[in-house]
Amino acid sequence: MSSIKKIGVLTSGGDAPGMNACIRAVVRTGIYHKLEVVGIYHGFEGLINNEFEEMSSHSVANIIQRGGTILKTARSERFKTEEGMAQAWENIQKNKLDALVVIGGDGSFRGANALVEKYHFPIVGVAGTIDNDLYGTDFTIGYDTAINTVIEAVDKIRDTASSHSRLFFIEVMGRDAGFIAMRSGIAVGAEAILIPETKTHIQDLISLLEKGRRKNKASGIIIVAEGDDEGGAFEVARKVKEKFDFYDTRVSIIGHLQRGGSPSCMDRVLASRLGYESVNAILDGYKGVMVGIINKEVSFIPFVKSVKHHAEVDKDIIKMAHILSL
Ligand code: F6P
Repeated sequence: MSSIKKIGVLTSGGDAPGMNACIRAVVRTGIYHKLEVVGIYHGFEGLINNEFEEMSSHSVANIIQRGGTILKTARSERFKTEEGMAQAWENIQKNKLDALVVIGGDGSFRGANALVEKYHFPIVGVAGTIDNDLYGTDFTIGYDTAINTVIEAVDKIRDTASSHSRLFFIEVMGRDAGFIAMRSGIAVGAEAILIPETKTHIQDLISLLEKGRRKNKASGIIIVAEGDDEGGAFEVARKVKEKFDFYDTRVSIIGHLQRGGSPSCMDRVLASRLGYESVNAILDGYKGVMVGIINKEVSFIPFVKSVKHHAEVDKDIIKMAHILSL
């Protein structure tokens, strides 16, 4: 029999479509197990500011299809300080929480891990970020919706690129990770995909474009992850244009559009499953781990491991994307 009676749930870092589906799953699984469930607003900031609210089955009704997070989110700088964390711990005790579910990305798990290590408090993490860059899960909540948003936007841009015979540099999110760029780039048949994980050579890109031109390619799409080593889409476009001025060029930044919207079926189901499993994990005595899914199986990765290792972009996929774009 578990001694856990009351759990909290919060969302932290960049929001991701499917976070609401996950909150719903945590609340309803908790209630099923006769736990009290409390929502904490604004991520770790809410722990510091004591923004706790009792959740009921009804309070998470009609949210599975909604983007964003009903609990709001933040990137808390104060939580990184000793005073901030001590204040958060005081509120956790005052509210008699026995455990916490943190839905977020690697920055959130770093914060959660500090709390686990300092106060031995049980926290289970759920992989929620559009970046899909977490080690220990095949997919993170929000990634599928984000890449579908990207391909919808790029398909539309492709129409006008083709009509005007233009070359478009399109920037997608991913400060440190190229998963959004890589997968959406393949799906839209991009001429090139530039990601932070591999070195970008402007000259190689120009050679590729010249080759395309010789084959009478009248227009093109270059997908640039925002964290590419040669800069964002504006910067890369400028560097290319300096040496290769054949195409009429435009730049498009898709931006925060990628973070919003109704979650896809895949994200809703993934979020429901991870939320459900996070509560089961707490009841089974897990702490300081992230719940993920690898090859359809539930997996538990210690925070220390999930934040140290970055998920890797598959080299074969990079090669395939290149070959198919020729
Ligand atoms: O981590 C998710 C993410 O959307 C990244 O892809 C992006 O670099 C970053 O958040 C943007 O963060 P913010 O909304 O705080 O500017």
